[in-house]
Amino acid sequence: PDYHAEGYGHFMRKEIHDQPAAVERTLRGRLDERFGTAHLGGLNLTPRESREFKRVKILGCGSAHYAGQIGAQMIEELARVPADSEPASEFRYRNPLIDPETLYVAVSQSGETYDTLATVQEIQRKGGRVLGVVNAVGSSIARQCDGGIYLHAGPEISVTSTKAFTVTAVDFALLALHLARVRDLSPADGQRLVRGLLALPERISDILQLEDRIADLAKHYSNFQNVMFIGRVRGCPVAREGALKLKEVSYLHAEAYPASELKHGPLALISPETPTVAIVPNDELFDKNLTTLGEIKARGGKVLAIAHQELPSHLVDDTIIVPQGEPELDPILLGIPLQMLAYHTAVLLGHDVDHPRNLAKSVTVE
Ligand code: AGP
Repeated sequence: PDYHAEGYGHFMRKEIHDQPAAVERTLRGRLDERFGTAHLGGLNLTPRESREFKRVKILGCGSAHYAGQIGAQMIEELARVPADSEPASEFRYRNPLIDPETLYVAVSQSGETYDTLATVQEIQRKGGRVLGVVNAVGSSIARQCDGGIYLHAGPEISVTSTKAFTVTAVDFALLALHLARVRDLSPADGQRLVRGLLALPERISDILQLEDRIADLAKHYSNFQNVMFIGRVRGCPVAREGALKLKEVSYLHAEAYPASELKHGPLALISPETPTVAIVPNDELFDKNLTTLGEIKARGGKVLAIAHQELPSHLVDDTIIVPQGEPELDPILLGIPLQMLAYHTAVLLGHDVDHPRNLAKSVTVE
């Protein structure tokens, strides 16, 4: 046991459990309940500028990119501005068009990832404006950006990101709310989201209570060599991040796919030997997700669902139920059981959870 992890055994587990406090820190002083909006002082954007840009492009690597995908969906859904997230490591090498009417957002926990820093510099060289969503205060990316949001997640020691991922998604919800309220979102919807954001720490604490149950499930699922992760729309980046967590610390092969794409190929991988972790929130795609689960069960595949309620027993083998909040904020909560699943699988398999083989905390080289 690592005693520096204060009785949690590992930093990864300590950081998973720090999430309610980290989310509270990132929200502090940034929400206005009365007007249903978010104040982000470091953005350096006037309301007029916030209204005028035509697109949002989010750039980061690994988990930062997946958190960016959650952010892009939130921004497009709430602020109704086209938004997407791309790996910074790809973007910088493809001579991308830099558009003065696009708001660029660079995401990094460490603030030192070289691919992300080089991306920021390339955008600025071509006249683009870049905001940072960064945890490490005063880091290279934070200093290079033209403004931004600090996560205030506290230090993240474990190589595998957990709390920084969650807090990045929360900060994208703040950015989306801010942009939405200077564009077309109603005060009532803004207030609904503010209440949803303020409820997150308690809801995360409720999910953390499920740890013993998840540790039990890990005993079963750690026996497989391959695991499929699926989700639709809001569930998609959650599935991708869940698969990355499992790969990084347990070394099991995990593959993430949009549930909608399963029948276009990866369904061939489904068998009693390859279980599926399915993200099945109570949203407008619930019935579609159940149809996909039926297709998996018909091939003898086991299903572990992350859901808001019990699902029909012929469609799932196990279900982890997370509290339901505002649908736009669902991805923030749905991912947390997957962190615990990856952690307990790795512990059972006897791996060095905080220092996975071949990985470094921040990748400061090309
Ligand atoms: C996450 O678990 C990873 N180890 C990795 O994908 C990480 O998110 C990525 O390297 C980006 O790091 P950064 O946020 O410090 O830029």
